Amino acid sequence: MAREVRAQGFEVNVEKPVPPMFQPLRLRGMTVANRVVVSPMDQYSAVDGLPTDWHLVHLGSRAMGGAGLIFTEMTCVSADARITHGCTGLYNDAQEAAWKRTVDFVHANSAAKFCLQIGHAGRKGGTRLMWEGMDEPLEDGGWPIISASPLPYLPHSRVPREMTRADMDAVVADFVQAAKRGARAGFDMLELHCAHGYLLASFISPLTNVRTDEYGGALENRMRFPLEVFRALRKVWPDEKPMSVRISATDWKEGGLSGEDSVAVARMFAEAGCDLIDVSTGQTVHDAEPLYGRMFQTPFADRIRNEAGLATMCVGAITSADQVNTIVAAGRADLVALARPHLVDPFFTLRAAAWYGVPATHCPPQYLAGRDQLFRNSMRDRADLTELRLKAKPKTHAPTWKQAAE
Ligand SMILES: Cc1cc2nc3c(=O)[nH]c(=O)nc-3n(C[C@H](O)[C@H](O)[C@H](O)COP(=O)(O)O)c2cc1C
Repeated sequence: MAREVRAQGFEVNVEKPVPPMFQPLRLRGMTVANRVVVSPMDQYSAVDGLPTDWHLVHLGSRAMGGAGLIFTEMTCVSADARITHGCTGLYNDAQEAAWKRTVDFVHANSAAKFCLQIGHAGRKGGTRLMWEGMDEPLEDGGWPIISASPLPYLPHSRVPREMTRADMDAVVADFVQAAKRGARAGFDMLELHCAHGYLLASFISPLTNVRTDEYGGALENRMRFPLEVFRALRKVWPDEKPMSVRISATDWKEGGLSGEDSVAVARMFAEAGCDLIDVSTGQTVHDAEPLYGRMFQTPFADRIRNEAGLATMCVGAITSADQVNTIVAAGRADLVALARPHLVDPFFTLRAAAWYGVPATHCPPQYLAGRDQLFRNSMRDRADLTELRLKAKPKTHAPTWKQAAE
């Protein structure tokens, strides 16, 4: 694939083009108005898997802030699939109704598309809320935990039971019923969580899968169960709606998954009907050694996009609109997800729209007066900055021979 921004049949105004971050993107029948995504973020605020008013307000306000696509947190496919007591689920009617309420709010009050992320915690299940000790086992033991192999996450974590074929059947059925509920609730897109060492990721990484049956060994075998789940979901998820998979593109650990493996993983999901790979990394084993830095996971999304030839979403330490524009313009990813920046600024996208002067960005009518002021002030700030730059500019660009010698 050419290293280019996917325009996919949209009219581009060449006289006055909008910045890359505000170009739309089409995935199957879904059009996302811009390239900014609110990354999935667990709020640890559910009660018995039931989303609460917190989720309505949190997700509702991020949708109103202008991002093209917003994600739910990892929504668990059964009570035993939860990471913590505070995780949301989608395995009973009350949860389905609560999610539908949030979906309806988002669709009624914003232009954002809404993706449901579903997952199973695997060996990281039965652990504490993030602010009480992430990945630390619950003192009362929580609930039974399963994984590809009976290996604990932390040395003092509980040992998960190695999944049997009967467990696999039950887990596939749980994923399928969650997807059906998600479709009924009206989500626009579905993401399968195969990252961060949770159940499906535990099959993919050789560090967490030491099985000797047909689900262990070579990458093709380790992918067998995650692909089985994906295919079962694709069958029940509406054809016109896209599906993505979140992967950990490297384990940041000797002997674990590498960027090269992740290209093969992406190809296998693409062949099964996946429209986009959401490229994260790590959290597979507790003693990994990630190389953190600005946009540190983007090279993995770049490689998958341009070697496997399918759309990618990058994420990780991306904090400015400038970075979003650069990533999209350079063809390194098709969507750019921000997690922590959105926790403290739901209006990241609307602010950027004001800065770049893109008035077409959706704003709820209740907030138009604030938006207009923001646009006016941003125009002034830009003008001031340009003036300052012009004043600071030296008269000539090239130094005289005398200056150069000094
Ligand atoms: C509070 C919090 C909760 C998170 N929960 C999830 C989750 O439910 N599912 C998931 O795939 N990633 C989750 N993540 C990871 C983020 O989606 C994202 O990949 C990560 O924070 C890196 O992006 P950032 O540098 O923009 O924060 C969470 C991150 C944070 C900060």
